[in-house]
Parts: sequence; structure tokens; C-alpha cells
Amino acid sequence: MSLVTLYKGHFIDTPTPGEFRVRKDAVAIVEAGKLLFLEKAVPERFSSLPVKDLGEGVVIPSFIDLHVHAPQHMQMGAGLDMGLLDWLENYTYPGESSFADEDYARKIYPLFAAELLRQGSLRSVVYGTVHLVSTLILAQVLEKAGLIAFVGKVNMDRNTPDYLKETSEASFKVTETFCRRLVGRNGVRPIVTPRFAPSCTEKLMEDLGRLSQRLDLPVQSHLSETLSEAQWVSQLFPESRSYTHVYNDCGLLGSGSLMAHAIFLSDEEIDLIMERGATLVHCPSANINLSSGIMPLGRYLDRGVNLGLGSDVGAGHTLAMYRSVVQAVQSAKLLRILRPEENHRAVTLSDAFYLATMGNGKFFTNQGWGPCGAFEPGMSFDALSIDMGLPEVVEMSPLNQLERFLYAGDDRHIKIRILAGREL
Ligand code: GUN
Ligand code: FE
Repeated sequence: MSLVTLYKGHFIDTPTPGEFRVRKDAVAIVEAGKLLFLEKAVPERFSSLPVKDLGEGVVIPSFIDLHVHAPQHMQMGAGLDMGLLDWLENYTYPGESSFADEDYARKIYPLFAAELLRQGSLRSVVYGTVHLVSTLILAQVLEKAGLIAFVGKVNMDRNTPDYLKETSEASFKVTETFCRRLVGRNGVRPIVTPRFAPSCTEKLMEDLGRLSQRLDLPVQSHLSETLSEAQWVSQLFPESRSYTHVYNDCGLLGSGSLMAHAIFLSDEEIDLIMERGATLVHCPSANINLSSGIMPLGRYLDRGVNLGLGSDVGAGHTLAMYRSVVQAVQSAKLLRILRPEENHRAVTLSDAFYLATMGNGKFFTNQGWGPCGAFEPGMSFDALSIDMGLPEVVEMSPLNQLERFLYAGDDRHIKIRILAGREL
């Protein structure tokens, strides 16, 4: 028998949206990084093994951040009373230009990795900058921290300040080098990352589309985050039927595509997203901060669109995915308050928790990493042990403890972090 570990505790997960599954006083049997089973009684053949008791708190799947900008870690909070395009010009692009300096990357990226770990986001899909060496350093740093991630070198060959702008040829070539360096790795893998349609020429996006198909790589970008951006895209690409069609026409929309925001989509665009099997990533913190709008999450959930959740730091202001879970619920409430005539449905806490764990996990599963995101037999055992430090006189159900953590807890309440069976 290979290495087997037993954990006892109150386990909560969301294999499907809409309902928390609570298993009290259960024992997780973990072998070679995967959950064998989660039962009340330990089967005979494991009964001689020691059990690690995780106490009276709760054990949940570790968080996954499906959209985050590592270089923006240092600008969190800055300029967040602006709109998207002004914020990019005045804060984000100047901030990202610092990563031309590798020493700066070596100093900053370990702080980003440490904060992901501290907040329990053990898997993530990350944007670097346009710079090859700094973004390779980012990949190295995440891998060294024991985290699992996709990392993208950002592409920008137009409508970009000169200090960040690449030529189309260099942008493509450097991306190919970057992807080939990371392909097939264990911890950190590459993702093709055209920043968004306004900052990429059609030629570059087509080349990147072909690269993603040739190397079988996922793609990430931003889609329809604000109305002014969407109007700009319709001027830049008069031939395309919609913003979504721009990516589709360039070969960038497939089952491995992550499209962040997706607030202002027509029914036809949603149909196209579903036809291609792409995933929409909700970033509620960023959408409120930049007053972009509110994604109709309930509607997308009901239609069965592939959905995930991202912190979108630095437009989002925290790497704590439990905050994004709450913000997803709150944003959906605002939509109901502000536009009652549209009959948006409520989004439950379990819907939002599902996105941050199982929904996001599906992307890693589909990208060949093995199943993850809940406590199902055969899944990677990725877990956080949460202890809210309640006084003994308080008796609180596991589910109430989880609610309390998601709304009012913080990283001090995350006691143990486990990724693929390994305590980090
Ligand atoms: N659109 C293009 N770039 C960005 C970015 O860095 N953050 C956000 N939120 N939207 C973008
Ligand atoms: Fe973003």
C-alpha cells in the first residue's frame, strides 16, 4: 500500500451548485494525493492507521482563483474609483512596466505567491506581464511555493503605451518560447494570454489562436467588461458580429478558453460561448470597484454556461476567494434591487461557493490535471481546515461555521492547507 493518510472532521463541499453537502464526523482516506473515500466508519484494512483529527471546525475544498493578475498585487486598492480604461492607463500599465526589471519581479512575485497560499487559493490561473523573463520567474516562484497554476505571458501589440507595446512578431515569438518552456510541467503550465481585443491586432490574435491549437493550450482574456470597452471593440472590429465573435473568429474561443467578466452579452453571444464550451469567469469585486456593471450570474447558471470565479486582483482588491464568494451573492442581490423588472433570480451562497471550488476545478480537470474541486472519490485531495476559534459555550453547526468564515473570517482561521494530499 502506498502512503495513506486519514483525516477526521466535518467536511463540506458543493459537487453541484445550489446545495452544500455536509458530512459530519467523517474520515477522509487519502492515498497518493487522491481521496479514496470519505466515510463515517474506517474500513477494516485501514483501521490500524493513525487518524489526524481536524477538530470541531470544518474542512472544505481549497479555493481556486480562475482570474488574477500577479503584477497587480502591489497596486491593490489604487485608483479603484476610476473606470476600467482610465485605471489601466493611469495605474495598471505604469505598474506592470516595472516588471521589465527582473530583480523587481524576483522581489514582488514571492509576496504574491505567499498571499495566494495564505488565503488558501492553492490553484490559480494567473496573468503575468508582457515580459518573458519576469513571467518565467513568476512561474518558477509559484511552482517553488508548491502551488498549481496556469501562467500567461500577456500579449499587447496596439493601443498600449510605448513602454509596454510589443511588435506583433516579437509578441508571438516570445509567447511561443514562453509556452514551450512551461508545457508539460507538473506544477505550473502555460496559458495563451491576449490581454483583450483592444490591445491586440487581429493578426496577433490569429497567430495566438493557431499556437493554442498546435500546442493544445488553454486561452485566457477579458470579454465585455464595460460598455465603453465593448463599443471600442465594435469600432476596432467592424467585420465581427460581436465582441465574442472577435475571439471566435481568431480561433481563441474553445473549450479551454477562460473569458473574464462577460457582463454585456447578447443571447447570440451566450449561445456561441456554450457551443464552443468556453468558460465565463465572474469577477464581482472588480466589477463593482471599476463600476463596470453586474454579470447576470443567475441567468448564466440556469442556462448551464460553464462558470468560474476570479479575484481579478488588482481590479479586485483581495486575493481572498471567500470574499469573492460573498461578493457574488451580494452583486446578484444588487441586480435584483436595481432592475426588478428583469426578474433575476437570487444566487445562493452555495452557488457562489460551488464556483470558487468545483466550478473552477472543472477547468483544471478538463485541462488534464485530474479531477478536483470537491470531496469525491478519485479527486485530488485539496483541502482547507477552518477553525473559527469559537468559545466552548457556543455550539455552532458546521454549515453555520462555514457561513461565518466566508462572510467574517480571514486567513487566521485557515489552519491547514492541503494540495494533492500534501500539507503546504
Ligand atoms: N482589461 C484589460 N486588462 C485588464 C486588467 O488588467 N484588469 C481588468 N479588470 N480588465 C482588463
Ligand atoms: Fe482581469
